[in-house]
Amino acid sequence: QKHLLGIEPLHPTEITAILDLADRYVELNRQANKHADALTGLTQINMFFENSTRTQASFELAGKRLGADVMNMAMQASSLKKGETLIDTALTLNAMHPDLLVVRHPHSGAVDLLAQKVNCAVLNAGDGRHEHPTQALLDALTIRRAKGRLHRLNIAICGDIAHSRVARSNIILLGKMENRVRLVGPPTLMPTGIADFGVEVYDDMREGLRDVDVVMMLRLQKERMDGGFIPSEREYFHRFGLDAEKLSFAKDDAIVMHPGPMNRGVEIDGTIADDINRSVIQEQVEMGVAVRMAAMDLLARNLRAAREADQGVMA
Ligand code: CP
Repeated sequence: QKHLLGIEPLHPTEITAILDLADRYVELNRQANKHADALTGLTQINMFFENSTRTQASFELAGKRLGADVMNMAMQASSLKKGETLIDTALTLNAMHPDLLVVRHPHSGAVDLLAQKVNCAVLNAGDGRHEHPTQALLDALTIRRAKGRLHRLNIAICGDIAHSRVARSNIILLGKMENRVRLVGPPTLMPTGIADFGVEVYDDMREGLRDVDVVMMLRLQKERMDGGFIPSEREYFHRFGLDAEKLSFAKDDAIVMHPGPMNRGVEIDGTIADDINRSVIQEQVEMGVAVRMAAMDLLARNLRAAREADQGVMA
């Protein structure tokens, strides 16, 4: 692949290759010297048009640990504020010869559009409700390490599915790897036509969590609700918030995941989030750095190979 724009175009063998390499980067990241040279000589620009803590920090760390020159564009202070279009901003940056562009944007499809205009590898760090591929990959790595496999697991994704790019990328990835995915949440927060994705849909947490191996909780994404119905947080927690009683319906060794940012007392009880016997939320953050290192390493190899092939044609 030239870019990482979504999980949709990835073959299961490509997903496995990213996770295998990420496993090696987990070991590197646990050492005193965390440096490797996979991106030495390359320039990585991070463009975040939406807020981020985990994704932006881990892409920055990943690039620096692999030896790239990393620049974080301050999008709030950029000429976008003066009316410059996304494409003109991209073309301007492209003229500075970056090798990797990491882009988060509030509009679905914006990152794909940008990728068509530049000469470097583009990584989607989350676009609208569309995809968040590195989140799904880090979730997959977390599951594989906790469960010893990434197939034939029962996985419940719970909460605001309709507005979630994390849910969409996870549904695609987990389906490709032959898991059974259940979606659990209020019907008002389920996308229409979701059954076409080969998932089971529940509006009752106890039924939806029965005997699952993995419970993945999602935040209410109010910023994408466009003035539509927003449930009361108290009522939502009562019906769909993960607490010990609802979790007791899952398998005894079920893991609890959350991509962050978390709203304690809304979609998840704080004691469950902090329970080191069940929650792998901090492991997800750790896996995020390793997965982003692996994704950028593999794209950089493809980029270098394509450039060498181009030079061969020119010679
Ligand atoms: N999970 C996730 O994308 O978190 P951030 O918004 O903090 O990057």
